[in-house]
Amino acid sequence: MIIAANWKAYVESVAKAKALFASAKRAAVKPGIEIILAPPAPLLGLLVADNKSKVAFAAQDISDTTGGAATGETTAALLSGMGVTYTILGHSERRAMGETDAVVASKVGHALAQGLTPIVCIGERERDPEAHYLQGLRTQIGAVYEPLSPKERMRVVIAYEPIWAIGKDASEAITPHDLQEMVLYIRKVLGDYLPGRASEATKILYGGSVEPGNARELAGGSDINGFLIGHATADVATFTALIKAVS
Ligand code: PGA
Repeated sequence: MIIAANWKAYVESVAKAKALFASAKRAAVKPGIEIILAPPAPLLGLLVADNKSKVAFAAQDISDTTGGAATGETTAALLSGMGVTYTILGHSERRAMGETDAVVASKVGHALAQGLTPIVCIGERERDPEAHYLQGLRTQIGAVYEPLSPKERMRVVIAYEPIWAIGKDASEAITPHDLQEMVLYIRKVLGDYLPGRASEATKILYGGSVEPGNARELAGGSDINGFLIGHATADVATFTALIKAVS
């Protein structure tokens, strides 16, 4: 079970980052648990620099540039060279700031070229009775997979994060039944880009109000490979309870 902790901008001190990292290290030695931390950029640099643990690190985003005169940008090459192995891409909070499917696809290309594993976020804003939202998900997936080679496609991790379920509490998250339906749908769409076995092997995470109270039920009731979790990973006690719930 993958637990990817998206700290967003919740963690704003070195002391808190170190305390969370310490509990992540303890969690990462549990059998069957794989921890990926995605801290804000300066904290990412700090923690990954002397990481000797089993914890893996993700950037919350990468630049769409490949270096040079680009003030404020952080490239895939720099992150990869520092020991970062994943990057979240296309998070709905970035898409809300204007990031298009084309930009997400371009960043996926930069990530893969530098050996970073992209965790590509897809998800509908809301659900309509005619289920047009499913077509929107298909478009998000297609934009990313279309330009990639078969080998590259196999390296992409999908995080299904319905926007209506993000940043709420467990009572407003998706149900295990509905999540399983989405996993089956996403795998079906992936089948258009990857041969049968390979689409089955693609890792699919769920994100959106995963908390200690619903993590076990969601994991047990669906075929997801793990979670991308925001607010519940930004507090040591809650994060520890979360790990306990899925262990
Ligand atoms: P949340 O965020 O767990 O706070 O809902 C998840 C995410 O946006 O990745």
